[in-house]
Order: sequence, then C-alpha cells, then structure tokens
Amino acid sequence: MRTVYSVSEARTASKNARETGMKVGFVPTMGALHSGHMSLVHRAHTECDYVVVSIFVNPTQFGPGEDFDRYPRTLDQDLEKCRSAGVDLVFVPSASEMYPPGFDSWVEVKGLITETLEGSFRPGHFRGVATVCAKLFNIVAPQRAYFGMKDYQQLKVIQKMVRDLDMPIDIIPCETVREADGLAMSSRNSYLDFEERRAATVLSRALNAASDAFEAGQKDATALEEVARGLIKAEPLASIDYVAIRDAESLEPIQVVDKTAVLLLAVRIGTTRLIDNCLIGPNVNI
Ligand code: PAJ
Repeated sequence: MRTVYSVSEARTASKNARETGMKVGFVPTMGALHSGHMSLVHRAHTECDYVVVSIFVNPTQFGPGEDFDRYPRTLDQDLEKCRSAGVDLVFVPSASEMYPPGFDSWVEVKGLITETLEGSFRPGHFRGVATVCAKLFNIVAPQRAYFGMKDYQQLKVIQKMVRDLDMPIDIIPCETVREADGLAMSSRNSYLDFEERRAATVLSRALNAASDAFEAGQKDATALEEVARGLIKAEPLASIDYVAIRDAESLEPIQVVDKTAVLLLAVRIGTTRLIDNCLIGPNVNI
C-alpha cells in the first residue's frame, strides 16, 4: 500500500494503474474509519483491481460553529485498516494541497436536491461536498466510486453532479452498516456519552417502526412520518431537525407511498447531530 500526500503523486499513481489496464475503484472518506467505510472498501476490492481511498476532513463542507475542529482524526489506525483491507493507494492531502491560495472555483448542484433537508440545516454543505468530490474524481479518475446510503442525500447529489457534468464514473451505492443495536455507524458516534449512545438507537427504532407501519398497510406519508416522530419525541435526549418521507430519486415531498420512497431523519442527541434513513415502498426489502 502506498500513502501519498500530493495531488500530483495521487494522480500519477492512479493513472499508472489505469494505464496497465486495471479498473480503479475509489472510496472518498474523511477518515476515522469504521466498518461502514470498510464495507465500501471491501465492495471496491471485489469489483476493481486497484482501490484508492482518500482521507481528507474537508473544511469547505463544514459550516461555522459545526464540528470541523473536533472531528475525529485517527490517521495511524485508518492507514492500518486500509493496509489490512488490501487498499492500494491512500491519498491524504492537506487543506492547502486541496485549496491552495487563490482557489476560487466551486461546483454547485442547484435545486431542491441540495436545498432541502440537510441543505436547509447546513447551508453550503453540499457545495463543499460536490466541489471536493469533483476535485477528487479529477485527481483519481476512477471508473467507479463508492458511496454509502447512510448519507442518502449526499449520494443523490453526487449522482446528479456526475450525470449533469458527464463525469465518466459509475457511482455505486452501498448499504448502511449498523451496530448490533441498529445505530448506523458514523464517525460522529464517538461524540456520544453512555446515556446518549443508548438514546441514539431511537433513530433506527423510528425507521423500523415506520417501515413496519407501511408493511401493515399504512401508505399515507404524513401518518408514517408521525409514527417515526412519535418515537423520537418520546426520547428525552433527542430533538428533531427533520423527519421526512420523500421520493427516493428527486427527494420531492410525496403524499402517498405508492413507489419507492425514502424516510430521512436528522436528530440531535444532546449536542451530536445524527442522520439516518431507510427506503420504504413496494418492492423494498429492509
Ligand atoms: P465520511 O462521513 O467519512 O463517509 C465516507 C463514505 O462512507 C460516505 O460515502 C458515507 O456515506 C459512507 N459511510 C459512512 N457511514 C456509513 C455506514 N454506516 N454504512 C455505509 N457507508 C457509510 O461522506 C463523507 O465522508 C464526505 O462527505 C465525503 C464524501 C468524503 C466528501 O468529503
């Protein structure tokens, strides 16, 4: 495994692999790697010949007052995990390598898909995500890039960017990996204290309750949202940013779940903001 720190080294290493006929798979991350991240790496490994992971806590996707400064940074352990998983190349750029003085070009995916939900609570977030992903895609030039469904709206934004800008990359969605009690794995789970960690299971419990209600015949989106909201409201440490059922592709609001929809949650447990989601609808197995 090679670890590189500069754009030019990353570009050259990936290009060399591609020129020898290898299929390049790419997993962009912000580090603090857990089994959710590693599931993307394993998938890439089964489908590609050369696996690239980037580790970069991207400052432009954090808003003022968000957790950029205290975001967990565990580079040594991350590199060890990558090595054990058979990663070929790890790209660990600095902020000044990615955003040198004079940097002033941004990728903005417009419309509801970035303005709603996370976009309305975290203005500018998706501009930072789209810009850094576009840059990383240009540097690594992978055939495939792997994204978790855990960050469902991010996945949809990246799919749209790749489509709109004709980037020759297949975006591969990967299932959310969960702890045994249902909590979706997240680098931010490390912020939770003992009581909060227990309370955090309310997100997956709320998703499951709404899915069960759908399976039992409830198709009304507002009623399904209320099922999820009711459970979260009963948890004293939790407060809701949003609970929303949306069309699974456009993220437009819907009234009735008659095709694949997604139930998205953002909930604060103490000061920690967690997101989770699940698909709901005919022909969806969860
Ligand atoms: P990060 O939060 O580190 O996540 C990197 C990738 O891992 C994302 O595609 C995310 O959806 C996926 N992931 C996280 N938790 C997961 C879980 N429990 N199960 C499955 N996949 C999971 O998302 C980002 O970084 C950044 O926004 C990034 C795309 C790297 C741009 O800076």
